[in-house]
Amino acid sequence: LTKSRFREETKMKKKVVSLLVAAMTVASLTACGNSGSDAPAANQEPAPAEKQEAEPAPAESQAEAPAESQAEAPAPAADGGTISVGFAQVGHESDWRAANTKNYQDTFSAANGYELSFVDCDNDHAVQIETVRGFIEQELDYICIAPIQSAGWDTVLQEAKDAGIPVLIVDRAVDADPSLYTTALGCDMVAEGEAAGNWLAEYLNGEDANILVIEGSVGASATLGRTEGFNNIVSQNSNWKVLDSQSGDFTQAGGQEVMESFIKSYSDFNVVVCQNDNEAYGAMDAMDAAGITYGVDGDVTIISFDATHDGLQYTLDGKITCNVECNPLQAGFAEDVIKKLQAGEAVDAWTLVVDEAFVAPGITSKYAVTMSQEVLDGRAY
Ligand code: AHR
Repeated sequence: LTKSRFREETKMKKKVVSLLVAAMTVASLTACGNSGSDAPAANQEPAPAEKQEAEPAPAESQAEAPAESQAEAPAPAADGGTISVGFAQVGHESDWRAANTKNYQDTFSAANGYELSFVDCDNDHAVQIETVRGFIEQELDYICIAPIQSAGWDTVLQEAKDAGIPVLIVDRAVDADPSLYTTALGCDMVAEGEAAGNWLAEYLNGEDANILVIEGSVGASATLGRTEGFNNIVSQNSNWKVLDSQSGDFTQAGGQEVMESFIKSYSDFNVVVCQNDNEAYGAMDAMDAAGITYGVDGDVTIISFDATHDGLQYTLDGKITCNVECNPLQAGFAEDVIKKLQAGEAVDAWTLVVDEAFVAPGITSKYAVTMSQEVLDGRAY
């Protein structure tokens, strides 16, 4: 069967079942859209799913227009009713992730015409793969995946493709052949790492740097990209040295633990790079406990990523000196893709969500915006 015929026949079977049920059960006459009674509930799958019914919120991010357009077979209309979307989310490791989850829940709400099957995969790659497999078995209309790690996706993506279900790779990237999924969207993690490095070079103005890096989760494209980008700039500065680089798993506890261990091993560092804000909070706790000063008035310069509200408050307070944004408000871009596919239109292969960087008051930079209360008040997350 061709992809579209397979899905047409599946839809037709669902309609026949619905009609039979309706004839026998008067009470179920109001039963609705295409994720009807023959589809298993999302919470019967390996990880629990939650159907979301939050009020809609406008998408607030901006994206650059991608260069290439990818013609995809149009997705079938969802019986003219609710569109079912499965979202295999990374987990709940950070404030960034919480903002990203809320953005998806608000955007893919019942009020907006969606049935969202949301699964928090708790940073477990195997759970995430099985979650996607569950979405395929449920014959959801669309699948969004925020990949915990970039490797290991070929088989399940092929299964989704064989089932004719469009897959959107969101936030982070996968190593797989792009022909196995419909589109990808997110921030440029290498560019974020380079922005941090370029800002540091400008700020240090030739001064030596002994750098400690608290990386994100192992194998995540956010970690790999930020590390690669930052190292690109390290290699251009012969008086910079990366003393150590360890994973803090994008969590506050992980950041604190890694920083405590760094403090035991190194006494001569003057820069700490934390690959997200939560790790920076943990690192600051560890330095506070050890009596190490940091920030614009301290001995150690902290660079962070994400630029969430609290992270930018620390930047405004001069504790985090530079904070490189990773915009979590990405669901609007996923919805745009789905709307295009519903209309039978071609979609872009890649959508870039644009970031900016922020620096503490008193610092001017060609790479970053100087923080002020006004900037913080204007932030949406
Ligand atoms: O993939 C985005 C990263 O994942 C964010 O920087 C981090 O906070 C999150 O856990």
